[in-house]
Amino acid sequence: MEETFKFGAHLVRRIGYGAMQLAGPGVMGSPSDPEAARIILREAVALGVDHIDTSDFYGPHVTNLLIREALSPYPHDLLLVTKIRAKRGRDGSWKPALSRADLSKAVEDNRRNLGLDVLEIVNLRMTGTKHGPVKGSIAEPLSVLIDLQRQGLVRNIGISNVTYEQVKEARGLCDIACVQNHYNLAHRGDDALINELAAAGIAYVPYFPLGGFQPLQFEALSRTAQILDASPSQVALAWLLHRSPNVLVIPGTGSLAHLRENLAAQHLIIPEQQLAELNAIATVRPEDDPGAI
Ligand SMILES: NC(=O)c1ccc[n+]([C@@H]2O[C@H](COP(=O)([O-])OP(=O)(O)OC[C@H]3O[C@@H](n4cnc5c(N)ncnc54)[C@H](OP(=O)(O)O)[C@@H]3O)[C@@H](O)[C@H]2O)c1
Repeated sequence: MEETFKFGAHLVRRIGYGAMQLAGPGVMGSPSDPEAARIILREAVALGVDHIDTSDFYGPHVTNLLIREALSPYPHDLLLVTKIRAKRGRDGSWKPALSRADLSKAVEDNRRNLGLDVLEIVNLRMTGTKHGPVKGSIAEPLSVLIDLQRQGLVRNIGISNVTYEQVKEARGLCDIACVQNHYNLAHRGDDALINELAAAGIAYVPYFPLGGFQPLQFEALSRTAQILDASPSQVALAWLLHRSPNVLVIPGTGSLAHLRENLAAQHLIIPEQQLAELNAIATVRPEDDPGAI
């Protein structure tokens, strides 16, 4: 199994870290113990994490500031990937913010709070429904990000929460470093897209690799975990790593024990028979997903 992937200008390990859940409850405000969050971030890097996924709308500002406090000056090989798309209401709501002024301000906020002159990879995260992306052209907000790239503020562009058609449209307008969509062993609408991106050398970064706010719970997953003497989370992550060499995982955790457990999943080999059992778990397949082919 490949251990690294060329992501933008960086060769990264295939297991990174997702910082979203370091903010307070509902991804709003500060965590109850900010120093514990900083310790997690430092430990992640000490254990070899070289790819952290974040956004300035987590908190808002909270996870970016924690990352900066914990890790700046940044190790030269650490890749920070961020995303832009929303403003947060005082009540924690996520309000679409895809106008030129909003996107430019979001890039500015990320640069300031992360303490970076240039953002290495910025995902344009499209607004969606509870179930996934919404169809329609993304050319207008993407053109803003392309302008910001031309100004030298953004090195590479990614897209997130997008349909198959939107990925095609985006690839016709600029180079795309990654697609970040909802995908895990149960939620498999992007199966065909992942294969196509792999052939083009483009990273696919599944969000909710462990099910997000609803942990993955399946008999076949627990059984495989038992057989391999691993945890169900490790099996779910290892399954993603087996899925395709362009899949980069960014599990989120506020627990040091879970962090260590998740990183150890990169060494877990899943035998063919167990892979077949896990493949059968899929509850959302491409034919059930309105955004897929
Ligand atoms: N582009 C987008 O729209 C989008 C949307 C959502 C997320 N994201 C990105 O994707 C990243 C990952 O998503 P996520 O953090 O929401 O979901 P996730 O990684 O699927 O799951 C995180 C949850 O799993 C638990 N967990 C982690 N490791 C575990 C382990 N070994 N055993 C048991 N439980 C474990 C965590 O709780 P503990 O803290 O207790 O470990 C947390 O509640 C985010 O951090 C964010 O950067 C992007």
